[in-house]
Formats: sequence, structure tokens, C-alpha cells
Amino acid sequence: MTFWLSLPRPLIGLSPMDGVTDACFRSIIAQQGKPDVSFTEFTHVHDVCHGPEVHLETLLYSERERPIVAQLYGKDPALFYLAAQAVCELGFDGLDINMGCPSKSVASSGSGAGLIRTPELARTIMQAARRGIEDWAGGQTLEEAGFKSARVAMFERLNQQRGTTDPTPRRQLPLSVKTRLGYDSEAVEGWVEELLMEQPAVISLHGRTLRQMYRGTADWSAIGRAAALVKGTGTLLLGNGDIQSLDDIAVRVRETGVDGVLVGRGVLGSPWFFRSKEQARMRAHGMNGTEVGRDPVEVSLSERFAVLIDHAQQFQALVGEKQFYRMRKHLGWYCKGFPHAASLRAQMVRVSSVEGLHALLADFRNRPEAIVDLPQAESDDELSALVLRCS
Ligand SMILES: Cc1cc2nc3c(=O)[nH]c(=O)nc-3n(C[C@H](O)[C@H](O)[C@H](O)COP(=O)(O)O)c2cc1C
Repeated sequence: MTFWLSLPRPLIGLSPMDGVTDACFRSIIAQQGKPDVSFTEFTHVHDVCHGPEVHLETLLYSERERPIVAQLYGKDPALFYLAAQAVCELGFDGLDINMGCPSKSVASSGSGAGLIRTPELARTIMQAARRGIEDWAGGQTLEEAGFKSARVAMFERLNQQRGTTDPTPRRQLPLSVKTRLGYDSEAVEGWVEELLMEQPAVISLHGRTLRQMYRGTADWSAIGRAAALVKGTGTLLLGNGDIQSLDDIAVRVRETGVDGVLVGRGVLGSPWFFRSKEQARMRAHGMNGTEVGRDPVEVSLSERFAVLIDHAQQFQALVGEKQFYRMRKHLGWYCKGFPHAASLRAQMVRVSSVEGLHALLADFRNRPEAIVDLPQAESDDELSALVLRCS
């Protein structure tokens, strides 16, 4: 039995977001209100096997996140065979293949959502990854698989960074796929049937086509059709797209019969998003429970700032002050829903260390009007706009 089957239903998970749900943010989320499952940002199979060590940063995680699934992308089955074994060695709970990224650099080369157009290759990739998982579980070492010893040492360092020195117990990881409704147009039945032939443990389905990128709204009726299709096959179907509140979860699950949902952008600036997930589950099961509403998690301003500072401190400790600028988008996302939030957000884009953050927040607490008087370069919409690189 895979870990997926032991999770509560509906399953409420954190969707992967490249450049956003890094190890640090996921750890903060796990602290603040743990999702049932999390995924790493996607990592290219070539980077796993041959890339510079810094590109392996996306495969770092902490024990508190479990169950944690590594997501890979690419189009070369041989690299998937190898990279799957690295994922096993790194102690992940599952392996997910990205077949949904619409970004030009990924999809036009035939990876990510590009695989929707080449279902045979998509299936070959799944078979290769599964063979890698089986060979590793059967006792094959990474060197026997073809990895150079310098690369194996990199994986050992990643395990050590997590505090693990014991050999990873050999076990068979479940394979899953995250994808979209179609390439140019919605073609969910044919595509899901193709995927089902490889019996993945889970299919996570974002309710948009590649062509839609992030435009319009997610088509949950198509997700519902896919849920009906997978019923009784042994594969779970997770719906994904535009969930902003725990109330949305209850509504979508009841409407579509999905086994669970993944939430992406709804957690930006709200790492406590999953705190009331049990209430959402009760409502999804038709029990009255407490009204969960649009924003069920009451977070005071002082708690919001405390979490923000904790997040920034952990980030700086993990990646160093030089890289602190990568934290700015998170700092901006935390600034919502309180008086003068937009003005504070405009200042956050200039913060370059935890020290600077403390100074800005002290200023804001003492003289919020001084911050308000500063010119506001960006509107709420502009500032909350995302770099929609992927899906
Ligand atoms: C900035 C950003 C990065 C993303 N990166 C990934 C990724 O690495 N892998 C993936 O499968 N999906 C990725 N996605 C897609 C999300 O996981 C999710 O499918 C999509 O945002 C729709 O869900 P939402 O409306 O809840 O955000 C990304 C989305 C965003 C906004």
C-alpha cells in the first residue's frame, strides 16, 4: 500500500510552484498548518543526473514536511530512469512527473505540458521512471545504475544536510503525474485514459489547457469528468485550479467527486492556509462543522509579522544574505488584509536582509503613516501579479 492510500479524504495538498514553494516556504507551511502532502518545485532530470550541484537545491526538504513528493520534468526516458533512482536515494515518499508546465522554454521542447501531444513518449517516460524505482528498491546502487561517484557524493551531502546519515531504506515509491486538461483544447478523457494505462498512483489535474496558460478560470466540470473516469481504477484524482479558500475545497470536492485537491496560489502570503483543513474535510463530507468561509484562519497582525520574520530568517540562514532578494516576493505577499498593507508591500521590494526587514517593520509599527506617505510605485494588482512560469 502506498502512502497516498493512507491519507485522509478528501486529500488537501500543497501544489508545487517553481521559485515559490522552496524547502524554506514548505517548512514554514508545515509549521503553520500542515497540508496532507507536499511536492518539491520541479527539477529537470538532466540537472539531477549531470547539472551543477546548486541545481539540486530544489531537492532539499525537511523531515517535518513528510509525506513529500519530488517532482521531475524532462523528456528523455533514460534520464528519468536514472533520476528516479536519485529521488529514491534521497528518501522522498513519492515521485511525480510534470506533464503540465506550459512555459515556452519547457513545453515547446516537448517536456512538461508538451508531453500531452506525445502520449506514447509520456508513457515511455513513466515506464522508465518506474523501472528506475523498481531497480533501486531491488538493491541496485547508484554507481551500478551509472552515476559517477562525485554525483553520488552530492546526493549524500543533500541527505546529510537534512540530518540523515543512515542508508535510505529500500522501498518502492509510488509514481504520480501532474498535468492539464489538454494541449490546445480540452481533451481530458483521451489523455487521462492514456495515463491510466500506466496505472499511476495519482493524477493531479489542473483545470486548464496548455494554451490557456493561467487565463480564464479552471474548468472543474472537466475535472469532474476525469474523476468519474478514474473511479475504481486504483488511481486517485486530485483537482487543481483557483482554490482560494477552504470553503472552495468543500464545494469543489462535493461538486466533482475528486479524491482531493492541490492548492497553489491560494497559499501565497498565507502559510497558515491549511490550518483549518479538518473543517474543510467535514464540510466536504456534508457534515455541518464550523463555517469555514473565505478566510477561516484569523491571523493577527503581530502573528503575521512574526511568521514573516521567521520565514525571512530561515530563508537567510539557508541560502545566505546575498540571495535575500529572492525572498522579496514572499514579503510582499504577506502584506495584505490590514491597514496600509499596500504601502508596506511597496517597501518590501527593497529589503535586502533580515536586519533591514526588522528596521522596516519597526518603522511601520511606530509610524505607519510615514510609510503611507511614500510614493506607491505599484498597485495591489501589479504587486500580487505572479511570474507565471509554470504549471
Ligand atoms: C509561480 C508558479 C510556479 C509553478 N511551478 C510549478 C511546478 O514547478 N510544477 C508544477 O507541477 N506546477 C507548477 N505550477 C502550477 C501550480 O502547481 C498549479 O497547478 C497552478 O498554479 C494552478 O493552481 P492554483 O490556481 O491553486 O495556483 C506553478 C504555478 C505558479 C503560479
